[in-house]
Amino acid sequence: MPKRARPVELWAAEHPVYVGAGSLAALGARLKQEPEGVRVFVLGDENTLRLCLPELLGQLDGLRNSSTIEVPSGEQSKSLETCRAVWEHLLTAEADRSAVLLNLGGGVVTDLGGFIAGAYKRGIRCLHVPTTLMGMCDAAIGGKSGIDLGGVKNAIGSFEPPMGVYVHVPFLRTLGKRELLNGVAEMIKHGLALDADHWNDVRTAPLHDMDALAGLILRSITLKAEVVTKDMHENGDRKKLNFGHTIGHALEAHSWESGQRTLLHGEAVALGMIAESWLSWKRGLLDRASMELISEHILPLYKPYPLMASDHHRIVALMRNDKKNREGGIRITLLKSIGEAVVDVEVTSTQLSEAIEHYRHLVAHNALHNRP
Ligand SMILES: NC(=O)c1ccc[n+]([C@@H]2O[C@H](COP(=O)([O-])OP(=O)(O)OC[C@H]3O[C@@H](n4cnc5c(N)ncnc54)[C@H](O)[C@@H]3O)[C@@H](O)[C@H]2O)c1
Ligand SMILES: [Zn+2]
Repeated sequence: MPKRARPVELWAAEHPVYVGAGSLAALGARLKQEPEGVRVFVLGDENTLRLCLPELLGQLDGLRNSSTIEVPSGEQSKSLETCRAVWEHLLTAEADRSAVLLNLGGGVVTDLGGFIAGAYKRGIRCLHVPTTLMGMCDAAIGGKSGIDLGGVKNAIGSFEPPMGVYVHVPFLRTLGKRELLNGVAEMIKHGLALDADHWNDVRTAPLHDMDALAGLILRSITLKAEVVTKDMHENGDRKKLNFGHTIGHALEAHSWESGQRTLLHGEAVALGMIAESWLSWKRGLLDRASMELISEHILPLYKPYPLMASDHHRIVALMRNDKKNREGGIRITLLKSIGEAVVDVEVTSTQLSEAIEHYRHLVAHNALHNRP
């Protein structure tokens, strides 16, 4: 872990990301730059306001006169109803255009808060303080904000880079194992899509060790920042970061509507990466040994999501609604090798269905062999 805060240069100095021991001090210094009278609203959920806000208030004088806005924890809060409630809160509190929204939480809070800030009075400024591994290594980075609508993930959203992102790794101390693994999925994705060394590091790291985790977070942020700096609006290379997400988002949405156990975003992406690695191999892009290595590593990390053959049709239909599709065809990010993704590979519904079938078989096969 770096001794001092290390700003990662993302879109130059205007939108810095701080990772490391001095990141809260950097946030304090940033708040001190605000003129007298600027009001800060801290947006969080019941967990982050209870577990993380006290440390923030204890360290930062600049937050002494801030007010807090609480939203319920969980993906359901990425909704128009929650936006409305927060906008009304800001109006009632007479927040003007100079106000700052400080988003303290996981990906739900930063996705939601970014969107709320971007639209309130045609845009107020926001800061992100991510508190989950998912938030630190991915969701708070890159300026994408959004909410869900009609069961479609991130159906409404915008690109809203925050003024700064402040990553205080010790917040992860209170995070449960399931939530940690949820974030690990995105770090695996960064490795598989962009950097084979990172994949190896994530694969072999002791994830309970905060110092090891801090190093991996910094690397993931750097990888994502490099891509986003070149392609903010996702016309080219940024699509590499969607690896695992076409099938992953559909499985995530399926888990909400099917009454099955609800998948967390990272869990769904992990399963999506298994299926999409298989598709990469099937399409002659990825070698078989790499495909198997990916699958053998990811499969035991996450609880299996049992599917029935009759689910495939609906899951493929959900993919067609994915906002990443253009002109009718389904285009997807696949792997050419570990560490190198290819974007915009046109695939058919049948191929996607086969990839899901492959995952279904893996789960069924494993269940058979692991039976006591
Ligand atoms: N914008 C992007 O680029 C991007 C990238 C990846 C994911 N996302 C989005 O991020 C969301 C998922 O984010 P998430 O996994 O962080 O979920 P989350 O924000 O719901 O947090 C998960 C849970 O952990 C709790 N929590 C947060 N911090 C905690 C802490 N320090 N200690 C204990 N509990 C804590 C929360 O209250 C919540 O119950 C999804 O909606 C996904 O679409 C966005
Ligand atoms: Zn994701």
